[in-house]
Amino acid sequence: MAAMAAPALRKYHLNGPRYTSYPTALQLDDFNPELLKQRCQQADAKPLSLYLHVPFCHSLCYYCGCNKQITRQTHKAQVYLDYLMREITQRYQLFTERSVTQIHFGGGTPTYLSDEQLTRLMAHVRQCFEVTDDAEVSIEIDPRQMTLPRLKHLFELGFNRLSIGVQDFDKKVQKAVNRVQDEEHIVELVRFARELGFASVSLDLIYGLPHQSAASFADSVNKVLKIRPDRLSVFNYAHMPEKFAAQRRIDEQTLPDSAERMAIFSLASELLCAQGYVCIGMDHFALEDDELARAQRHGSLHRNFQGYTTQGDCDLLGLGVSAISQINGLIVQNEKVLKHYYQAMDKKGEALAKGYALTEDDRLRAEVIKQLICHFHLSYAHIEKAFHIQFEAYFAKEIERLKAMMADGLLSMSSTGIQVTDAGRSLIRAICMQFDRYLPQSRQQAFSRII
Ligand SMILES: C[S@@+](CC[C@H](N)C(=O)[O-])C[C@H]1O[C@@H](n2cnc3c(N)ncnc32)[C@H](O)[C@@H]1O
Ligand code: SF4
Repeated sequence: MAAMAAPALRKYHLNGPRYTSYPTALQLDDFNPELLKQRCQQADAKPLSLYLHVPFCHSLCYYCGCNKQITRQTHKAQVYLDYLMREITQRYQLFTERSVTQIHFGGGTPTYLSDEQLTRLMAHVRQCFEVTDDAEVSIEIDPRQMTLPRLKHLFELGFNRLSIGVQDFDKKVQKAVNRVQDEEHIVELVRFARELGFASVSLDLIYGLPHQSAASFADSVNKVLKIRPDRLSVFNYAHMPEKFAAQRRIDEQTLPDSAERMAIFSLASELLCAQGYVCIGMDHFALEDDELARAQRHGSLHRNFQGYTTQGDCDLLGLGVSAISQINGLIVQNEKVLKHYYQAMDKKGEALAKGYALTEDDRLRAEVIKQLICHFHLSYAHIEKAFHIQFEAYFAKEIERLKAMMADGLLSMSSTGIQVTDAGRSLIRAICMQFDRYLPQSRQQAFSRII
């Protein structure tokens, strides 16, 4: 990946969204739940992707920006499970015509639930929804709490994809973020997952953590290459100590600066691409024959609240505290605080807190941003055909702003479209921000640094 000169790079020391949706969740506001019901009835019977959020964890990783609650009181999981199952019972009635082709359990740590609790939850999901035989069923696991018998149990429950949080193999980094874990155990988990028949194993790494350098991170990447997961997320550390109190325990003096962060990602990307991985969008890698890589090649890659996905044709139904749904032109979010989630379920029988109905202009901009962040390329003809506009006239101001980025070598423009260069790939969020009409009004501090 090409590097950028330091003075030009400084211009892009910005905060910005990760564009798992457009508009971002910041636009969500008071919302009438009746609109969701109406839109569900109007929608053609698109397949459904389910997201189930389990917010509990056993211990606190200082870098964590997820919606989670650290607790040793395991009985809390039972209370939560009862509410979550009630929410499923209430929600599935809006979707009786739909089949479910994807299920993802995220968190927090979904395996905070016991084997018996996960069995009950999965049985309830299958009882309520029509889950297809070939559905992708994935779960995020924390290797520190995962044993081989538990992994076998997950497979028997129908999970066929695993996502394992690794972050970094370097012990100094692990200690600084309060997440020390055993490398051998991760190797053993992946080996056993393959033996059981899991269709795909994905690992999460984070760059930008304390004490990391390009050289130290390359050691972790080389260890990953020996494990050879099907997919790999290499997340840019979102450091927002005003928002996530635990991050204040991280000594900022030990964080790599922007230039080092870019060097870390460049080297990691080089190492991975030299060994048969393809760069997917801004922070994912996949083996060349993986479905994500194929979707990218065929132009069908999609992005939603779960990140990059092949299932662009699905509506997304989020269940559990803070979960977000994207359904038929609506984005809606459940109550984010556990106590409020319980109260809403008790009082209203549903947990929806906020929402937003996309306008035609939002849909158009969402498609532009999706094309850029998934494919690093935008064909004006594709947008013009789908939205009946003349691209260069509609986006005259945006194109003017992009000219400065073109001068910095981040992209090229022609009369037919926009092509992001290698140097521009790591600044793709800044490029997408040019098409975001809400950004000047929304607080940029609400987002993490883009590099
Ligand atoms: C819900 S956790 C994964 C499951 C499990 N709780 C674990 O930690 O292994 C989701 C992933 O988000 C990423 N993540 C969490 N906080 C982050 C942050 N502040 N910046 C970037 N990535 C972050 C980590 O890579 C983590 O593995
Ligand atoms: S990274 Fe995972 S285990 Fe650590 S606090 Fe966040 S959600 Fe919990």
